[in-house]
Amino acid sequence: MTSTTAPALPIAKLEAMFAANRAAGKKALAPFVTAGDPDVATSVAVLEAVDRGAIDAAAIPVETVRKATIFRDDRIAELVGGRWKDVDGVSTADMQAEMERLTGVLASGGGDPYAGKRLYMQACGKCHVLHAVGGQVGPDLTTFKRDDVPRLLLNILNPSAEIREGFETHVAVTADGRVVQGLLVEDDPQVLVLRDGAGQTVALERDAIEERRVIPRSLMPEGQLAPLSDAQVRDLFAYLRTAQPVVD
Ligand code: HEC
Repeated sequence: MTSTTAPALPIAKLEAMFAANRAAGKKALAPFVTAGDPDVATSVAVLEAVDRGAIDAAAIPVETVRKATIFRDDRIAELVGGRWKDVDGVSTADMQAEMERLTGVLASGGGDPYAGKRLYMQACGKCHVLHAVGGQVGPDLTTFKRDDVPRLLLNILNPSAEIREGFETHVAVTADGRVVQGLLVEDDPQVLVLRDGAGQTVALERDAIEERRVIPRSLMPEGQLAPLSDAQVRDLFAYLRTAQPVVD
């Protein structure tokens, strides 16, 4: 599949910003291609800029690269090839090591459920209800077996390991080259409605859809515990395991 549309992102401008930052000795800019649904041309342009060294690969979130590979475009496959090792998800070995490390962290002491609630509201609450508060992208966690730490850890570290029935990730590629991914909200002969990870619903006319698939990947992001300190991980889990709502 190829596309002739001009890239929607001002690649030249981004490259100039990177060059200026680099000259000033700053680190890479924050990830930028997260908003919206990049099309083939945009994806190719961004990946080519990385290939030339004009944009730092580290500035491109792995989710964005993953989205680009959904196009099954030869040029994209070639540009991505090997540069982003995590595109297919965390490796089993990495995950095992992280599971063991965090099991140790959690066994080494308790946490503060009040601080944990704040972390939950930042990291998880936009997608999950717990004790009647939170967003409705993923399943309600109140009834999940939350005292089963290994299962909680597995679900958080590797969301795609077991995907809850009814929460599969659907991907639609539109005739004008957009990739939309999300959970299935409505599927009828006229429209397909998906809800993306931000909780936004996107309605697509059937006629405008060129290709659709269900992919074996969770909509839930990986690596959510990575930015947390050990104490914060213990706080978050203290909250996740509470039997009763925590009122602050
Ligand atoms: C972008 C939305 C999103 C965010 C943010 C998110 N999740 Fe999820 N989560 C999902 C979706 C969608 C599923 C269902 C698909 C699956 O099983 O992976 C899920 C599944 C789960 C499950 C398995 C539930 C079940 O019933 O099988 C657990 C446990 C979980 N999430 C915990 C968390 C925790 C803890 C956080 C915060 C650190 C979090 N999630 C952040 C979307 C999200």
